[in-house]
Amino acid sequence: MSQPTPRTIAVVGATGVVGQAMVAVLQERAFPVRELRLLASGRSAGRSIDVGGRAIEVREATPQAFDGVDIALFSAGANISLALAPEAAARGAVVIDNSSAWRMDPAVPLVVSQVNPGDLEAHEGIVANPNCSTMQLAPILMALRDAVGLERVVVDTYQSVSGTGAEAVAELEDQVRAHVEGRPAVAAIYPHPIAFNVVPEIDAFLDSGYTKEEWKVVEESRKILHLPELRVSCTAVRVPVFVSHSEAVHVETTRPISPADARRLFAAVGGVEVTDDPASHAYPLATDAAGRDEIFVGRIRQDPSIEDGRGLALWVVSDNVRKGAATNAVQLAEILAAREWLAPWSRRHVLESVAR
Ligand SMILES: NC(=O)c1ccc[n+]([C@@H]2O[C@H](COP(=O)([O-])OP(=O)(O)OC[C@H]3O[C@@H](n4cnc5c(N)ncnc54)[C@H](OP(=O)(O)O)[C@@H]3O)[C@@H](O)[C@H]2O)c1
Repeated sequence: MSQPTPRTIAVVGATGVVGQAMVAVLQERAFPVRELRLLASGRSAGRSIDVGGRAIEVREATPQAFDGVDIALFSAGANISLALAPEAAARGAVVIDNSSAWRMDPAVPLVVSQVNPGDLEAHEGIVANPNCSTMQLAPILMALRDAVGLERVVVDTYQSVSGTGAEAVAELEDQVRAHVEGRPAVAAIYPHPIAFNVVPEIDAFLDSGYTKEEWKVVEESRKILHLPELRVSCTAVRVPVFVSHSEAVHVETTRPISPADARRLFAAVGGVEVTDDPASHAYPLATDAAGRDEIFVGRIRQDPSIEDGRGLALWVVSDNVRKGAATNAVQLAEILAAREWLAPWSRRHVLESVAR
């Protein structure tokens, strides 16, 4: 078998929570890298980061920094992605963007590696990584869609502070310390103290009363699953957990399904692990999922409020920084490279026509 071609990879937001995880996941999965460019804001330029024992200097993310880049993994927020992803793509890179900037653009594939990898084929230089809450839900919903059909999904999330970034992790740590030392908690990143609290506000409120985060789960699930009419509702809640998002999910299916069949179905999905033995208190936990790439599902039971055995209730947990962001981005890079889909579809199409 021929060796995979090493690629020049840029990580934008390389000093952040997700960017650091992207660098780690590239190494762990032995992605063939010719050159690794670590990009961030001008504030970090000149700093160096240890990558596998080698110090790599951080550069400012400018359009020119993408010259010669094959794959650009973006994780520096939507404004940076809006400004720089087209610049990177124009210079020949395929962008895998972790922000919300491009996800709902009809011309941009929104992909979970084990759910809709085929959607990557049509990219025109930018590919979007879903929101972390949608990411962990999609493989579970895919399995139900394919086996028994989906009618309606209600999701309530319990999201960790690492989903907001490095400053939010520091804020929770500081508020916990303040409590122990008898100091008042100072909230700067969130509108209320997050330590010892449960805050039902993630991202901005929309006129509908939902938050943007909740609406991302609705719209992104529909796009990824190719079910534009799927009925979805979500309440997104921030909890004082450092890593991993948990979700209480209620699903109404088209045809009946028993919890035992659902367990077998989920266990057969790549990257999904069933942890479901209430008698021994075994169910997915945020602390167990942290640092892992799997999506864990448990507490699978029949929802008696839906007739004919067409309702299931479940608990889904995954590391938001890894599968919810960095790992899926690297998995998309692996698929694009393995299927030789790095160039935009229109350019590949022209080259194929010329070859014929
Ligand atoms: N955390 C998660 O679980 C998660 C999951 C899915 C999606 N996301 C998304 O991923 C993105 C980053 O999240 P994060 O959690 O890693 O945030 P973070 O820890 O706050 O890191 C932000 C990164 O963006 C860089 N950055 C800021 N301003 C920049 C600029 N003007 N030019 C270039 N780089 C700039 C920062 O560089 P400096 O250090 O130089 O400021 C830093 O590397 C966000 O869009 C977020 O919504 C996060």
